[in-house]
Amino acid sequence: MKIYNICFSPTGGTKKVADILAEELCHEVEFIDLTDSSTIFCDVAITSDDIAIVAVPSYGGRVPEVAIKRIMQLHGHGAKTILVCAYGNRAYEDTLVELQDVATQTGFYIVAAVAAIAEHSIAHQYAKGRPDAQDKKQLQEFAKKIEENIHLKNTTQLKLAGNHRYKKFNRIGIVPKATNECIKCGLCAKKCPVNAIDSNNPKNVDSKKCISCMRCVTICPQLGRKINNVLLSVINIALKKSCSERKDCELYLYT
Ligand SMILES: Cc1cc2nc3c(=O)[nH]c(=O)nc-3n(C[C@H](O)[C@H](O)[C@H](O)COP(=O)(O)O)c2cc1C
Ligand code: SF4
Ligand code: SF4
Repeated sequence: MKIYNICFSPTGGTKKVADILAEELCHEVEFIDLTDSSTIFCDVAITSDDIAIVAVPSYGGRVPEVAIKRIMQLHGHGAKTILVCAYGNRAYEDTLVELQDVATQTGFYIVAAVAAIAEHSIAHQYAKGRPDAQDKKQLQEFAKKIEENIHLKNTTQLKLAGNHRYKKFNRIGIVPKATNECIKCGLCAKKCPVNAIDSNNPKNVDSKKCISCMRCVTICPQLGRKINNVLLSVINIALKKSCSERKDCELYLYT
């Protein structure tokens, strides 16, 4: 038996949450990177004896579309599965419910779900440094409870917050641009989850493909990719009310 840690985590916050859970469950862990467009996901050999963690960030209260497409290529084969949604302290709305629907269709057997807070990948001042020590302790306790209950047989669907008639997804439409610091090393083009950056000229971005995930901004070794400061200020102000008060991680479990 091993744990498949299946993650879509462009800037690493979702993976931090999933890693804490995986580590606490104490089995051999195989990481499946849903941001890697070159992986053939249908070849991942998950069995019914395994445990899976399927982890995504919340984008506009929904699962990122590209993550759905890649999860749908996997075969869950009845593996006991923990769903994880990481969000930037605003709200996760229909993300977990949508993830539950997709993972169930793909053959994963859902035993628990976790909503956790991670630093906002666009407006970094919100949930800064999270998951922090307090989150880690809470997530470790969640993992223990999940392990105690993992063999319960359930015939009903786990009741989660959210609506099965998902809210409409509105593209945020922020496309980071290369600055004069860019030395055309090509790293961002290689690592963009949706291949939106031209590898021959990283200054060219296909704005229709870009999902505003902020990976290129985070990984550029030259700090050579930026989003528009005026747009960022508008977002920071718009999020202030809903993002400022600290929210706790949540566990959904059959009892
Ligand atoms: C395009 C986009 C949309 C987002 N929408 C939400 C949201 O609706 N609610 C929220 O609380 N956080 C939102 N966030 C913040 C992310 O959910 C959060 O920072 C998450 O940890 C990012 O995951 P990652 O670090 O694995 O990339 C959004 C971030 C991005 C990039
Ligand atoms: S990673 Fe940075 S330096 Fe390298 S191509 Fe992209 S923007 Fe330019
Ligand atoms: S170009 Fe867009 S989709 Fe690609 S890494 Fe940058 S923000 Fe993400």
